[in-house]
Amino acid sequence: MNTVLVIGATSPTAQAFIKLMERDYPEMTLKLFVRNRKKVPAYQKREHVIFLGDAAKYTDYVAALEDVDYIYDSVGGLSTGPYVKLLLRAIKETQATIKRIVDISAGGIYGEYLSGNLPYLSAVRTQHPQYTHDQLDKPLLFANSGIPFTIFRPGLIQNGPETKIITHGPEFRAIPESEFAINRETFARAAANALFNDDYHNQSVAISNGELL
Ligand SMILES: NC(=O)c1ccc[n+]([C@@H]2O[C@H](COP(=O)([O-])OP(=O)(O)OC[C@H]3O[C@@H](n4cnc5c(N)ncnc54)[C@H](OP(=O)(O)O)[C@@H]3O)[C@@H](O)[C@H]2O)c1
Repeated sequence: MNTVLVIGATSPTAQAFIKLMERDYPEMTLKLFVRNRKKVPAYQKREHVIFLGDAAKYTDYVAALEDVDYIYDSVGGLSTGPYVKLLLRAIKETQATIKRIVDISAGGIYGEYLSGNLPYLSAVRTQHPQYTHDQLDKPLLFANSGIPFTIFRPGLIQNGPETKIITHGPEFRAIPESEFAINRETFARAAANALFNDDYHNQSVAISNGELL
């Protein structure tokens, strides 16, 4: 039985992923890493493993990694760069055998999004330079860890019908406004395909809605 550690499990993005997992991968065990148990839906407390932890604490990662095979990390906030370093250190020092990590980063860090509110989503680079710097470091951090990874850089994650998926690598710097949004279901599916089907192997991709299915 494989176990997926879902970090930031109370986020709306992770909640859509959890629901997709329950529906499409019922054989997998889900371990939900949360800092506030009260925010976890009651049925998830019954059906999944709940790990109470702080993503800023190395020792919490060490404890959470026991028996984990896959990691989906959608923890939010401006400190996710330092958090990833702690997570990778914990994996290394516990010698956990992680088959894949999916990390949710932010759109705009390469100045690639020509959309969002003026002066565009890529304004993250001037509004939060340290955060941007940390996000830009992630591909190298993951590559150096040796753990297969996918970094997603969505624009706006929202509700909506499932669609095909459009992705772009970091070298693509002119993502049009039409590719700003992605719905949570489609995003969850992309994450599951990255985790279990080896999609977007060792890549950082911008991701948005394509044509309706
Ligand atoms: N929403 C978007 O349009 C969008 C666009 C681009 C990228 N993203 C990224 O996608 C991810 C998910 O976004 P979201 O909007 O669905 O959710 P969010 O509101 O950003 O949720 C963040 C999650 O991280 C958890 N968290 C933050 N600090 C933590 C800590 N120290 N220890 C444990 N948990 C902690 C939060 O827990 P609590 O519930 O307890 O606060 C919550 O579950 C984030 O990384 C975000 O930057 C989102």
